Amino acid sequence: MSNNIICLENVSKSFDNGKTAALKDINLQIREGAFVAIMGPSGSGKSTLLNIIGTLDTPDSGNVMISGVDILKLKDLNEFRRKTIGFVFQLHNLIPTLTSRENVEVPMYGTGLKPGEMKIRALELLKSVGLENMADKKPNILAGGERQRVAVARALANKPKIILADEPTGAFDTKNGEIILKLLQNHQKTLNTTLIMVTHEKSIAKQADHIINILDGQIK
Ligand SMILES: Nc1ncnc2c1ncn2[C@@H]1O[C@H](COP(=O)(O)OP(=O)(O)OP(=O)(O)O)[C@@H](O)[C@H]1O
Ligand SMILES: [Mg+2]
Repeated sequence: MSNNIICLENVSKSFDNGKTAALKDINLQIREGAFVAIMGPSGSGKSTLLNIIGTLDTPDSGNVMISGVDILKLKDLNEFRRKTIGFVFQLHNLIPTLTSRENVEVPMYGTGLKPGEMKIRALELLKSVGLENMADKKPNILAGGERQRVAVARALANKPKIILADEPTGAFDTKNGEIILKLLQNHQKTLNTTLIMVTHEKSIAKQADHIINILDGQIK
């Protein structure tokens, strides 16, 4: 049995009725527990690739196997995604009307956890990112780096096998970027999580097990 948790075969994706080819015949295998950095210029297809791996988007052609599941044949992608994948986006995407704790609880809905259990887990996660004292605060009063740490806690809510991070450190100074990277790497190492991170920063990419360079929708 292969220990590749992600396997893409001949994956292509275009937008605007085929006018914009975002990914061209991508073949990619990523083994379980790896830290992979994705690099490439703006518009090269990095986010499109991440969205396909994350089952937020589907390819026009090709095969996508994630954690042994053929996602093109799967009926309930939402449930699969919630259980298997944690996302951290460049902009934190927190829900402004919810507190930090409630934001971290969002992915836990529908997993069978009781409200009290969700609360305990969310507080543990906030503690792990150094924000237990911010649990009742809403995103608007948090600093940028703190918001992103809440987003990291949310991504880890269901102990996902795969974490997809699209420039999670991009909007921050080096120190906050370093904190966010360490949090994600710590999770990757201790739980054998697969971490895939889009980054423009060579200093971050250097710490990955592999670097994937994308140019014009192709892996170089
Ligand atoms: N939803 C969409 N509708 C139309 N075109 C899109 C869509 N998403 C991406 N594209 C196009 O596909 C190409 C790849 O975009 P993508 O967002 O994957 O690039 P990227 O490498 O993530 O860039 P950046 O570094 O700026 O985030 C671009 O030409 C982009 O304009
Ligand atoms: Mg992008």
